[in-house]
Parts: sequence; structure tokens; C-alpha cells
Amino acid sequence: MTTTTVVAKGRTLRFPEGFVWGAATAAYQIEGAARQDGRGVSIWDTFSRTPGRVADGHTGDVACDHYNRHRDDVRLMRDLGLRAYRFSVAWPRVLPEGAGRVNEAGLAFYDRLVDDLLEAGIAPYATLYHWDLPQALEDAGGWTSRETAYRFAEYAEVVRDRLGDRVKTWLTVNEPWVAAVLGYGIGVHAPGRASAADAFRATHHMLLAHGLAARLLREAGAAEIAITLNLAPVLTPEGLHDPQAPVSAEDAEAVNRIDCLLNRQFLDPALRGEYPREVLEIVERIAGLGHVRDGDLKLIHQPVDLLGINYYTPCVVRARPGAPGSDSYPGSDGIEFSGATGPTTATGWPIVPTALTRLLTRLSRDYPEVGLLVTENGAAFEDVVAGGRVADADRIAFIEGHLRAAYAAIEEGADLRGYLVWSLLDNFEWAEGYHKRFGIVHVDFATQRRLPKDSALWYRDVIARNGLVK
Ligand code: NOJ
Repeated sequence: MTTTTVVAKGRTLRFPEGFVWGAATAAYQIEGAARQDGRGVSIWDTFSRTPGRVADGHTGDVACDHYNRHRDDVRLMRDLGLRAYRFSVAWPRVLPEGAGRVNEAGLAFYDRLVDDLLEAGIAPYATLYHWDLPQALEDAGGWTSRETAYRFAEYAEVVRDRLGDRVKTWLTVNEPWVAAVLGYGIGVHAPGRASAADAFRATHHMLLAHGLAARLLREAGAAEIAITLNLAPVLTPEGLHDPQAPVSAEDAEAVNRIDCLLNRQFLDPALRGEYPREVLEIVERIAGLGHVRDGDLKLIHQPVDLLGINYYTPCVVRARPGAPGSDSYPGSDGIEFSGATGPTTATGWPIVPTALTRLLTRLSRDYPEVGLLVTENGAAFEDVVAGGRVADADRIAFIEGHLRAAYAAIEEGADLRGYLVWSLLDNFEWAEGYHKRFGIVHVDFATQRRLPKDSALWYRDVIARNGLVK
């Protein structure tokens, strides 16, 4: 990597003092070493090894081989000046059968990783669940079983006891909407089940898992506890670029219903101790409410310090009588989903940075007690390595646009504490395999060579000046 540091010319859009700049990854997407040191099997091992599930039969067996290269990767992070690194702990590395026997070698890996990060001056942000449920627990019902939430709490306790003296920021579950809906509702993610009712049960049990783990972490005096949600403003096509655009009563109802399913189904239980009435009505109709027990919402509603926000693209809907709705949103009949118009990333997601400003200001208005942290934002593009370089101007523009949007939200009063780019490395993009590259660092999967893209070098300068050139 080149060592020239760009000196900010002109004026700088300076972020608040102590703003946390970092990058994020997840265990199954980067670690590889799937059969090393006693790691157990996760639902993503099973799913990805099942023909037809993941593009070109890609698996996380090797991924970025980060498990064996974490030292070099931490060095890379240090060279970029990251202040925080969000990684996830692989549950099946720690408890190969999901419960009971602890695998010391697995825990020791995270021990080393955390020590190396601290030595490099990088704060470790540990996510406890980023989708790699131990297969043994899936065989016993997975997230549709309430028991899984209690097994998660036991696992969280093991990890807390080992790393809690050094990890100060904990994220319980990552994107429960995605894990429940894509995994249990429509089956395009592991474990590949397709039942709307199961998706609602899984959602509730993941929220319960969050609450149980948050309580345990609090007891041990964790400095910062968070849940990480995939959140998106829900907008009409007209409202997408014009917040003042008039909205019909029918469209307003459509927007509210999807906002409840996508956002408030998670925000309200975790931060207010209640499900929105609209959600309860839909869940009751589709799954019944037998899985929601007295006292659950109190358990879910633990004090949290931070709300982790994964933002990529807004959700655009309008009312259309007779429309079947989307399988991803059971109960969305009569609603039409349309993508935003304009430029998209390589995953086809419309690029709308202004929606991030709207999301952050709305969250700080509606949930004022919690600090905000962007735990993921980034983009896949068709990167080309040429002349020893990846000139990913489109990724730089994406990140810069979103940082400006985040800055605007801070100016409007949002309590945004930091920004973690997704992702540090190109990695296993779930059902898309290795085809979609989100990294600011390019990975040659044949040689495992890392090459910081232009975006990484640009981000390093952003961090160094704590802001953007105006
Ligand atoms: C959110 C997920 O948490 C992460 O695992 C995934 O790679 C990114 N979105 C990009 O799709």
C-alpha cells in the first residue's frame, strides 16, 4: 500500500470529535477454515454445500482464509487507520454442537484477534450472531424454536466471559429481518425454509435472544450494547426524492404497513417493549400469537446504548388494489413494490444517499434515548484490477455520498456516533457467492492476495482528517 497521506486541501467537513470510523465483516463471510480446529457445522455450511442454493456452488469453506491470516488483516486495518473493527463470532467455532461442549481452540482464535486489534489501536466491536447458526440447533427446530434463544444466551455468556474484559462494544444479533425472512420465510438464505409463519416465529425468537444476551452483557458491565438492524426508509415513488410530495391515504397506509414490518417490528420491541399493533394483527392472522409469551417483551426491551443501522437502499411502495404484495413481507397484499429509479450498484440496489439522512433523523426523533451507529453501509461494483490497482471511483462516490448524508443528519441533530463501512474485504456474499464484491480491499480468491482499492486509500484519508473535503 502506498504511504503518502493526502493533506486536506480547502475546508474540511469535520465529523464530531471521537466519531468512530471503522469497517465491518462477518465470520462466515471471511473466516474460511470451516473444518479447522474443531469448528462445528453451521446452517450456512449445509446450505451452501447443497447444490443450487448459492451461485456457482460457492461456499464459505475457504472464503478470505481470515482465520489463518487475521494477523495480516489486522495490519491492513491499522494501515488504513481504522478506529473500530466489527467482526462476528462464529457460534459453531465456540460451541460446535450449538450448546454444551466449548471448543477452546475456537475461543482462542477470537482471543488472539481481539488482542491483535487492541495492540493495533483498533476497538473490537463483536457481533454475536451473524447468521451462522449451529446445524445441530437447526436440526432441533432452529429459530422457530424458542429454545434456540436460550441456547444463544448460553453461548453469549461463554463469549462474554472470555472476551468481556477487552471487548467493550457488543452487537447481539445482526439483521434479524433478513435472517428470519430470507432464511425461514422465503428460503433464499440458510436454512432455506419457506414459511411465512415460521419467519414470524423466528423473528420473535431472535428478538428474545437479543434481550437475553443484552441482559447478560449488561450484568457483566459491558460498556456498549447494541442490536443491529437492516433499516430503510419506506417511501412512495413520488416521495423518494421529494419529502414534501403529497401522499394519498391509501399510499400512506401502504407505507406505514411496510415500515411496521421492516423497521418497527424490530425497533419497537427492542427500544419500547412493544410490537406495533399493525404487526400483531398480521402475525396473528398468519402465525397466531402462541409464540409470544407474557413477559417476552419486557425481556426483549433491555436498555441498549446503541442502535446499529445497516443501510443500503430505501424501500419504495405504493398502494395497488389487488396486488399480491411481496413474499418478503407477509401481509403486504394490495401493495406494489417498485425499485427506485436512477443509478444502482452491482446488486441492483438503487443508490439514494438522501434516504440515509431521512432514516437517521427519523430514528433520533422517534427513539431519542439510543445513540446511533451505522454498522454497515457500502456497495458492490464491478471492480477491475488493472496496473496493480482497483480504481473504484463508483464506490468512493457511494461512500462519500452516504457520509455527506450522515453529516447532514448530524447537523439536524441526529446522535450519530460512528460509521462502519461494509466491508473491509471482498467476501462471501451469501446466496451470491463471491460474485458481488463489497470490499474496500480487493481479495484475489485464488491467491488470497489483498489489494487495497482506491476506496480504501480514500477512506484512510477521510479517517485521518476526521471528515470530508468540502
Ligand atoms: C447485510 C449483511 O449483514 C451482510 O452480511 C451482507 O454482506 C451485506 N448486507 C451486503 O448484502
